[in-house]
Amino acid sequence: MKKILITGGAGFIGSHVVRRFVNKYPEYQIYNLDALTYAGNLENIIDVENKSNYTFVKGDVVNEDFINELFNIHNFDGVLHLAAESHVDRSIEDPLAFVKTNVIGTINLLNAAKNQWKDNFEGKRFYHISTDEVYGSLGIDGLFTETTSYDPNSPYSASKASSDHFVRAYGETYGLPYVLTNCSNNYGSYHFPEKLIPLFINNIINNKPLPVYGDGNYTRDWLFVEDHAIAIDLVFHEGKNHETYNIGGFNEWKNIDLVRLLCQIMDRKLGRKKDASEKLITYVKDRPGHDLRYAIDASKITKELGWKPSVTFEEGLEKTIDWYLNNQEWLQNVTSGAYKDYYKKQYL
Ligand code: NAD
Ligand code: TYD
Repeated sequence: MKKILITGGAGFIGSHVVRRFVNKYPEYQIYNLDALTYAGNLENIIDVENKSNYTFVKGDVVNEDFINELFNIHNFDGVLHLAAESHVDRSIEDPLAFVKTNVIGTINLLNAAKNQWKDNFEGKRFYHISTDEVYGSLGIDGLFTETTSYDPNSPYSASKASSDHFVRAYGETYGLPYVLTNCSNNYGSYHFPEKLIPLFINNIINNKPLPVYGDGNYTRDWLFVEDHAIAIDLVFHEGKNHETYNIGGFNEWKNIDLVRLLCQIMDRKLGRKKDASEKLITYVKDRPGHDLRYAIDASKITKELGWKPSVTFEEGLEKTIDWYLNNQEWLQNVTSGAYKDYYKKQYL
């Protein structure tokens, strides 16, 4: 039986990856390591908690002794590393927290894996999940490819870029078998409502202002989270060692256009008057260092591994909105407590 460690599996993307691996691979023993920060929530994976091939481990990737001990006990065959501080706005407030988890935490895992596997790398794999934000900002045209130079602009993307470099360095220096993916903005269920789409869905439900940064003419490529989980499964099993794959939705939207579409769908679903939600749009102070545009050329993973998104943006957004409308208790639970202080500081 293969023992697989997934880190950050109580977060947004990690919970979808854990669910997929636990259900699809009963022959694997899946260990989900998560510190349960504000972004981690056991409710996100409640449906797998009693499965016999699943174990949850609460712990911090920054704690070197704990990570070494965990590897000594379990002798993992593979690691899918998703644990991270993930929100750009929070990274502007507290860059060091991002260095600790995203850089030191990644190095702790790399060291533990390298030390455990060094005598025989056969059949082992370290998969680092990263972001397209490491490439910096595009102008109005062009796409990020796997060979685009790194040029991170936010403390978040700088920390992810650093972790990516360490992963490659461990591959070159010690021969660690790794794969790395850089993905565009995800959306879908269990997304913490500090990020654009779930924040705005929650605010529309509660008739609160929709804070659009700057002029709203910033562009992101959006991918349905379940399609990201499918891509991660594919790369983990079929990707080539020491390779990077870009993952994207072929789906660019200017923030303001996306927000207007969201408002229209929400008005229809909530039975509100046309334009009711658009009236909530409020232009607010821009994010410092705000990247103008991200867009991914995902042709390598399509050509080499046969992956492409399975749902259109319209389908994915409908599913996402329905999920939030049907899971308002989840929204209420995650927006209580410390989130309230963050929200007040950020937007009021
Ligand atoms: P998230 O913030 O929703 O979840 C992060 C998870 O990591 C949480 O469960 C949290 O409790 C856990 N965690 C944080 N610090 C930890 C620590 N020190 N030790 C152990 N666990 C810790 O993040 P997400 O959006 O699911 O992103 C997952 C990964 O995918 C990240 O590495 C992120 O950089 C990357 N990524 C995200 C996106 C996106 O659009 N969300 C896009 C591309 C790549
Ligand atoms: P976000 O979801 O934070 O993802 P990222 O910064 O990692 O791309 O933001 C997506 C876009 O939406 C980004 O251009 C910033 C913008 N944005 C707003 O305009 N208002 C908001 O309240 C938030 C959270 C984001």
